[in-house]
Amino acid sequence: MYCALIQSKNKMKNNSLIQQLNKIEEDAAKSIESVNSLEELKQFKVKFLARKSEFTAILRSLKDLSKDDRKEVGQKTNEIKQKINESVKLLEKNIKSNSLGDEIDITAPGVKIEEGHLHLTTQAIREIKRIFERIGFYTVKYPEVEWDWYAFGALNFPSDHPARDEWETFFIDKEDVDPKYKKRILTPHTSAGQVREMETGRMPIRMMNISKCPRRQLDVSHVLIHYQFEGLVIDKDITIVHLKGVLDYFVKEFFGPKRKVRIRPYHFRFTEPSFEIDVSCGSCNGKGCRLCKEGWLEIGGAGMVHPKVLENGGIDPEVYSGFAFGWGVERNKIMQEGINIKDIRIIYQNDIRFLKQF
Ligand code: DAH
Repeated sequence: MYCALIQSKNKMKNNSLIQQLNKIEEDAAKSIESVNSLEELKQFKVKFLARKSEFTAILRSLKDLSKDDRKEVGQKTNEIKQKINESVKLLEKNIKSNSLGDEIDITAPGVKIEEGHLHLTTQAIREIKRIFERIGFYTVKYPEVEWDWYAFGALNFPSDHPARDEWETFFIDKEDVDPKYKKRILTPHTSAGQVREMETGRMPIRMMNISKCPRRQLDVSHVLIHYQFEGLVIDKDITIVHLKGVLDYFVKEFFGPKRKVRIRPYHFRFTEPSFEIDVSCGSCNGKGCRLCKEGWLEIGGAGMVHPKVLENGGIDPEVYSGFAFGWGVERNKIMQEGINIKDIRIIYQNDIRFLKQF
C-alpha cells in the first residue's frame, strides 16, 4: 500500500517534469525568435541551459527518479538540449554572415578597393591632343555620319575609285542622295575633316581631328571602330620641311627622345607627294626584332595636300600649301607601349587583367 502510494507520487512528479520540459521547449522556441545579436544569443543560452537554469535543475533531479522514469525524462532533456544547441549554432552563423556582428576588429587590415583609370585609348587621345596643342594645333570635331563627298569625292577620289571598298566603308544610303555629296556613310577616316576645315575659312589652318572611324573589318589586326588622329596644316610657304619637323617633334614627345622617324614614298589620292611614316623600334633600337622585323614600325600615312583638294576646299593652291597626316590611335599607343599584341580586339574586350597594365 505504502509502496503503491510512493509509486503514484513518483509518477506525478515524472508527469510534471515532462510538462515542465515541454514548457521550457515552447518558451525557448518563442524566445529564440526575438534574438537578433550575438549578445542576445548569449543571454538566451544562459537563460535556457546555464547552471542556474530551470533545465539544469531538472537534470539534477534525474538521479531521484526511478529507472524507467529517469529514462523517459532523460530522453526528453537530451532532445531539448540538442534542439536548443542546434538552433543556437544556426542562428550564430546567420547573425555573423548577415551583419558585421558584434565582433568587428577595427584593427584588422581592410579589403583594398581597386581603383580604375582611363581606358588606354582615352589616355592616348588626351596625350596626343596635348602634344599637338603645345605647337599651336587646335582640336576639332566633325560629323561621324558623313557625305561621300567629304570622305572621298573632295579628296580627289574619282567616283568609281575602289577606295570606298578599300576603306571598307559602311554605306547608309543605297543610292546617291545628292549629285555632289552623293551618299551618306559612316566616316571611315578622319581625312574627311580636311575639306570641312578648309570650308570654315579659318587661315592659317592647324587642325587636329581625332575621331572614331567605323569600317567593315574585324580580325586580329582590326576592330570595327578604331580611332584616328588627323593633322592638317595650311598656310603660305608650307613645305615638306615643316612636315618633317612636326613628325620629328611628335615622335620624340610621344615615343621618347631616342626614337627616330623616317619617311618613305607612297601613294594617296589626296596628297602629292605622299609618304608612309615609320618610327624606329623602341625594343631593339632599330636593329630588328620580333616586334618590328626590320627595326622600323609603321605609324601611318602623310603627305603634302593635293592642289585639287585645296581647290575643293575653296583655297587657292597658288597662294597656299600644306601637309596632312592621319594615323591610328590604338596602333600608335600599342607601339608606344612596345608590346606585342596578337589580337588587337583585346583593347575593347574590357578584360581588366589586360587593361590594368596601362
Ligand atoms: N586617311 C588615310 C587612311 O585612313 C590615312 C592618311 C594618309 C591620312 C595620308 C592623311 C594622309 O592625312 O596625308 O588610311
